[in-house]
Amino acid sequence: MSFAGKVAIVTGAASGIGAATVKALAREGAKVALVDMDEVKLQEVAKQCEQHGNNPLMIRADITQDEDIRTIVKRTIDNFGELDVLVNNAGTTRHSSIIDENFMEHFDVLINTNLRSMVYLTHLAAPHLIKTKGNIVNLTSIVALRVLLGNLSAYAVSKAGVAHFTRCVALDLAPHGVRVNAVAPGGTKTNIIENAGLSNVEATMEVWRNKHTVLKKLSEPEEIADVILFLASDKARSVTGSTYVCDNGGLLT
Ligand SMILES: NC(=O)c1ccc[n+]([C@@H]2O[C@H](COP(=O)([O-])OP(=O)(O)OC[C@H]3O[C@@H](n4cnc5c(N)ncnc54)[C@H](O)[C@@H]3O)[C@@H](O)[C@H]2O)c1
Repeated sequence: MSFAGKVAIVTGAASGIGAATVKALAREGAKVALVDMDEVKLQEVAKQCEQHGNNPLMIRADITQDEDIRTIVKRTIDNFGELDVLVNNAGTTRHSSIIDENFMEHFDVLINTNLRSMVYLTHLAAPHLIKTKGNIVNLTSIVALRVLLGNLSAYAVSKAGVAHFTRCVALDLAPHGVRVNAVAPGGTKTNIIENAGLSNVEATMEVWRNKHTVLKKLSEPEEIADVILFLASDKARSVTGSTYVCDNGGLLT
């Protein structure tokens, strides 16, 4: 899957699935704009991309800030001159029940981080993607497709919004030759729980592995990156409006 000469923006590129994706794209020849609010980790990932030749563009940005979203698109176009692939990957999680005092606080964080940010970034990136007949890959989750665990309603609803936004925008952009798809991972070995400031990481991962997979394993971030690259590539030229599940059979549990 060659991405030689293609320009890609990947949000959440400093960690987990985003880091694996941006490294895979760089290895396949893409010119990559790495976006994250964690500048230290972003620099490490950028160094690993550099070894594949094209100079990566590092953009420190908080995607909940509209000004930062505008900067992401402007700096990418100023630097690379075009945009072929947008991977809306950055995200976070919170655990709380609808009756918890902090529920609305968590809901606002998750809607802003996981959904609103990608809506605005897509809005600003679309005119550039139309010029190149490029495409978009959004990160949703299997909890958007089925209620699997308690205390996840705010996260699950934000991700259900992502899946439906994907379908709606795929229809809007189809006449312009732009494809829009989503990937729905199940439990994947990243630092999402630590990065969200939550505890019980091992216990949570164990529950995912034992109760919410039939293959009794979690995915590596590189496996999710493989699906993202497939959808972003010409091999998926007939695929739009789809949500690709990669969950070790989690939806069968
Ligand atoms: N890990 C899983 O089990 C899993 C399962 C389903 C879906 N997902 C989704 O996959 C995507 C990637 O998650 P991951 O598991 O690699 O998590 P991760 O925490 O390892 O990486 C997410 C990255 O997003 C960045 N980020 C978060 N908020 C940001 C903001 N406001 N501005 C800029 N950057 C921000 C973080 O700094 C981090 O580097 C997320 O959308 C997540 O919801 C993950």
